[in-house]
Order: sequence, then C-alpha cells, then structure tokens
Amino acid sequence: MSQLAGIRACVFDAYGTIFDFASAAARCAEIPEDKRAALTSLWRDKQLQYTWLRSLQGRYADFWQVTGEALDFTLDSLGIATPALRERLMDLYRTLSAFPEVADTLRRLKEAGFVTAILSNGSPKMLDAAVRGAGLQTLLDAVLSADAVQVFKTHPRVYDYALQQLGVRADQVSFQSSNAWDAYAASAYGMRVVWCNRYGQRPERLPGTPDHEVKSLAELPSLLGPPG
Ligand code: LAC
Repeated sequence: MSQLAGIRACVFDAYGTIFDFASAAARCAEIPEDKRAALTSLWRDKQLQYTWLRSLQGRYADFWQVTGEALDFTLDSLGIATPALRERLMDLYRTLSAFPEVADTLRRLKEAGFVTAILSNGSPKMLDAAVRGAGLQTLLDAVLSADAVQVFKTHPRVYDYALQQLGVRADQVSFQSSNAWDAYAASAYGMRVVWCNRYGQRPERLPGTPDHEVKSLAELPSLLGPPG
C-alpha cells in the first residue's frame, strides 16, 4: 500500500469519526434499548439532511440548533417526545465518547511531527465541550468549525477555511472522515483522504476518490510518509 507523501496536517471530521454519536442514546437509560439504534440513526440522518438543506437555502443556523431540531423530529417520529428526554439527550450529545483509538492515534501523529486538527460542522461551543470531555485538548493543534464560514460541509468554503487557518495546501492535508459523503467531497476538493469506514458504508456515487479506506484511525499513522 503506497504511503501518502508530503502531508503536513492531519485533519479530522468530528462526529462519527472522533466522537461516537451513538453514545448519547446508549448512555440514556430513559430510552428503551430496542429504540436506541432507530433513534440514533434517524437523529443523525435528519441532522445531516438539515445541514445540507439549510446550506442550499442559504439559511444557516448553527449545528447545535440543527441537532436539536433533528432530535425534535426524531422523538416525534418515534412517539417518545418529552421536554425532559430532549434535554437529557442534548446534554449527552455535548460530551459524546471518543472512539477508543483516537487519543493514542493523535499522540502518535503529533510525536511524528504532524499538525493535528478537527474540521467539523459542530459549533465552536459544542466542539470545545466534546474535545474537553474526551480529554483531547492537548492532542489537537486546532479545532475548526464551519460556523466561521456560516455554511456546512460539503460546501468548499468549509474546506478552504481549514487550509487558510492551517497555512497548508490541499495536497498537504490528510483528511479523515467516517462519513463517506465528507470523505468523497474532501477528495474532490483536492485533499488526500483516508476514509475511516467504521459503519461499513458502500462507496458513494459522487465526485472524489478517497486515497485509502480503513476500519479504524489506528491504521492512519502507518499510511503516512514523513511530514512534508
Ligand atoms: C462533522 C459531522 C458532519 O463533524 O460529522 O462535521
């Protein structure tokens, strides 16, 4: 397998890639176990749809609001909507668990001399809470939010923003996402991409070709040549 050469910055998507969004429902005792998977998947699907629809309409609202509105739709659809449950799940979403290999992978990348960063749709406050909750703050050089450009991925302005903030070219970035649509978009944009296919997704029929597909971020350090 050929290594990615000349990479300076390893940039990560947040939700689904670093943070496990299923951990909110999993930690919510009030949700019956047989409804947790449906809740997680509908909440996530709606949340993403709302980001794309709002971006198309030019009606940005931050990811916290979009996440809450997607949750309202979901609880309503499942017939379990109560204000207390909404508050509890939103609270749990603030401090999602990180996937087990994340801290060690970031440490290895930093030790090897790479810049590490998050590039996420999450609002700055959400990302700050999630990063601190998982104890990752010293392992990340930058936490970048789409909020700065008031539009969501996959708008190219979001990927532009990462390059500006990190002072690198697209081909000097290794971008990691577990969201196939995000991985394909970053590749079409010009970044090198490692698609962390945690969820066994099928390939997208969209522009872009991820350079590598892995199952865990632990595989990333060995895919990179020396920092450029
Ligand atoms: C993010 C979501 C889309 O962190 O996963 O940007």
